[in-house]
Amino acid sequence: MKAVYINAPGPADTLIFGGLPQPQARVGEVLVRVRAVAVNPIDTYIRAGMVKVNLPLPFIVGCDLAGVVEACGTEAKRFKAGDRVWCSNQGLAGRQGTFAEFACVEERWLNATPANVRDEDAAAVSLVGITAHLGLFAKARLQAGETIFINGGAGGVGSMVVQLAKAAGARVVATAGSDERVAKARSFGADLALNHRTQDVAAAVKEFAPAGVNVFWETQREPDFDKAVLLLALRGRFVLMAGREARPVFPVGPFYVKDCSLHGFAMFNATADEQRGCADDLNRWLAEGKVRANIDRVLPLSEAAAAHRLQEESTLQKSGALAGKIVLKP
Ligand SMILES: NC(=O)c1ccc[n+]([C@@H]2O[C@H](COP(=O)([O-])OP(=O)(O)OC[C@H]3O[C@@H](n4cnc5c(N)ncnc54)[C@H](OP(=O)(O)O)[C@@H]3O)[C@@H](O)[C@H]2O)c1
Repeated sequence: MKAVYINAPGPADTLIFGGLPQPQARVGEVLVRVRAVAVNPIDTYIRAGMVKVNLPLPFIVGCDLAGVVEACGTEAKRFKAGDRVWCSNQGLAGRQGTFAEFACVEERWLNATPANVRDEDAAAVSLVGITAHLGLFAKARLQAGETIFINGGAGGVGSMVVQLAKAAGARVVATAGSDERVAKARSFGADLALNHRTQDVAAAVKEFAPAGVNVFWETQREPDFDKAVLLLALRGRFVLMAGREARPVFPVGPFYVKDCSLHGFAMFNATADEQRGCADDLNRWLAEGKVRANIDRVLPLSEAAAAHRLQEESTLQKSGALAGKIVLKP
C-alpha cells in the first residue's frame, strides 16, 4: 500500500511517500480503507522529534482518519465490512498513524460516520472536535448562557470551540487575523468576532461582557496572562492547551481574588471511552448541521510533506497561510 512514513524524526522532507506492506487486523483491531486524513500540528511535532513518543519504525504519521471498514480482526465486534468510520488518537503511544491507504485501528477508538457526513469532514473534525469538546465540557464545564472568549477562533481547534460553545447555548466572542477570517468566525456562530490585528480586543470584550467572560480559551502558544486575567469574570475558567515551551509571567493576585481556575489538558490523555463520549455528540451535531468542518484545502496524500510544511509555517511561524484544516486523500 502507499503510505507516508519516516525512518527517523526530522524535517518535513524526511517524509517518504512510498510502498509499505498492508497491515493485517490483529485481535480487537479493524482494518480501515482510508478515504481521508487531516493534518494536525502534533503530527509535525512528532515527525520533527519535538515531542518524544515511542515510534515503531518505519513510522506512519497522522492521528486522524475517516474511511470504510475493510475487515475485522477476531474479537472486534462493533463494526462490519462496509461500515463508514472515523477516529483520532492514532500515531501515538506506539500506535502506527493514519497517513496510508489502509490502517489498523483498535476498535475502541473508532466511531461510526453519520450517513450524511462526508469522509473529508469527519476526518477534519476528529482531533480538533474532540479537543474542543474535552476542554469545554470536561474541563471548563461551560454552561448555557455563559460567555466564552476564544483567542484564535478561525483556526483548527478555535473554530470547533466556537461551534461547540454555540451548540451548548453560550454567548461566543472570538478573534481572528483578517477581515475574511473574522467573517468566518462569525459564520461558525461567534456573536462577536474581532480582528486581533486591527481592533482593541480588550475594550470590545469589556463592552460585550462588562462582568467579564466565564471562560477564556487560549489557542496560542504564548498566552498573555496579564491581559487575559483582566477579562475573566468572577469564577472564570481559563483553558490552556498549547505552548510546551511557554514560561509566561502569571498575575497571581488578580487571578485568585476572582476565584478563577486554570485548566490545562492534552486530548491524547483522554481514554478511548472519554473520546467516544465526545465523538457521539460531535456525530449528532454534524448530522444535524450544527457543526461543520473547517477545511482550508484538500490535497492528495502524496502532498503530505508540503502539507506538513504549510501546517508548521502557519501554526509555529504564524505565517497566516491556513485558516482551518488540511485534508489529504489517498
Ligand atoms: N492540548 C491539546 O489537546 C491540543 C489539541 C489540538 C491542538 N493543540 C495545540 O493548539 C494549538 C492550535 O492548534 P490548531 O490546530 O488550532 O492550530 P491552527 O489551525 O494553526 O490555529 C491557530 C490559529 O491561531 C491564530 N492566531 C495566530 N496569531 C494569533 C494572535 N496573535 N492572536 C490570536 N490568534 C492568532 C491563527 O488564526 P488567524 O490567522 O486568524 O490569526 C490560527 O488560525 C497548536 O499549538 C496545537 O499544537 C493542542
